[in-house]
Amino acid sequence: GPRIGILTSGGDSPGMNAAVRAVVRSTLRLGGRPFGILEGWRGALAGGDGIRELGWDDVGNLLHRGGTVLGSARCPEFRERSGLRAAALHLTRHGIDRLVVIGGDGSLRGAEELRQEWPSLQAELVEAGELAPDEADAHPRLRVAGLVGSIDNDMAGTDMTIGADTALHRIIEALDALSSTAASHQRTFVVEVMGRHCGYLALMAAVAGGSDAVLLPEGPPADGWQSELVASIERTRATGQRDSLVVVAEGATDQAGRPITSADVAEALGERMGERARVTILGHVQRGGRPSAYDRWMPTLLGYAAVRQLVHAPAGTPSQIVGVRHNEVAVIPLSDAVRDTNAVKTALETCDFDAARAARGSSFAT
Ligand code: F6P
Repeated sequence: GPRIGILTSGGDSPGMNAAVRAVVRSTLRLGGRPFGILEGWRGALAGGDGIRELGWDDVGNLLHRGGTVLGSARCPEFRERSGLRAAALHLTRHGIDRLVVIGGDGSLRGAEELRQEWPSLQAELVEAGELAPDEADAHPRLRVAGLVGSIDNDMAGTDMTIGADTALHRIIEALDALSSTAASHQRTFVVEVMGRHCGYLALMAAVAGGSDAVLLPEGPPADGWQSELVASIERTRATGQRDSLVVVAEGATDQAGRPITSADVAEALGERMGERARVTILGHVQRGGRPSAYDRWMPTLLGYAAVRQLVHAPAGTPSQIVGVRHNEVAVIPLSDAVRDTNAVKTALETCDFDAARAARGSSFAT
């Protein structure tokens, strides 16, 4: 049966383990042999102990655990030709010519590059005498399926990335806790949430947590936002509400693209309201811990679909992303998802916010 490698790369996210488990067990069920590649692309580059065959029981007792048991790393060496070559060498030697890659857009882009370059990398390795010609001939093509693992929900092409739902739960718990202490003292709390350049976590947390205001990269405020913010908080205070909560996305900016930090927001409120707003930066607690039910069953379905994709797709098929579209498992070309994700980033960098929202597509409904 086919040998399928699985790796998690980039920032970890809760639910990656559910995906790993599903890929390993689906591979076994469909008659293949699963191999764990440890520490992201680093394991493929290193070979040896970096690549390990996995059995059914190796992925038991995993569904409820956060992070990734395979380990993850950012691997700059993989961007270089020598890195790609080392990966092609070790994977070919193990007979692995199908990969499930769980990571963000950078990791997935790397996978597609490896797939495209695979035949020429093998040719170089054969020429250098590092790979026997028959080893290369036995695995002439690489097939790749990508699952998007990131708490940020920042990838076009899938409605939800693995881990975003859990991070949202974590943020909501924190907002609830802060609301109760804020209400006891009639205070304002400014809460900074992760998401890199994407405001998904901030927006959904603001809606679900009942915050009074939210600052997002996709909807930057005009000059004078400080006074407007104060006015809106004072309006809700006038209705008798005792606590005030402002959520700030870590990537928030003004319309000129200048960052707005949680400290900026607190300072603006302090100056104008005469009370010191408290700042909480939630940080990595948002990324760790037990995955939600959604981040267990969704990656399980996607992991199974990814293995099916790899077993059935003809050789030469470009890399695909297996994601969620309109609440159903969907397989789309990785290149389309990367193109649309880049379009969002470029649009945000050039402060073209309408274009950013349009390119984000169905994954972000502002
Ligand atoms: O992409 C996930 C994420 O947690 C972002 O929300 C955040 O900006 C970044 O990673 C933090 O990176 P690091 O863990 O390397 O500090």
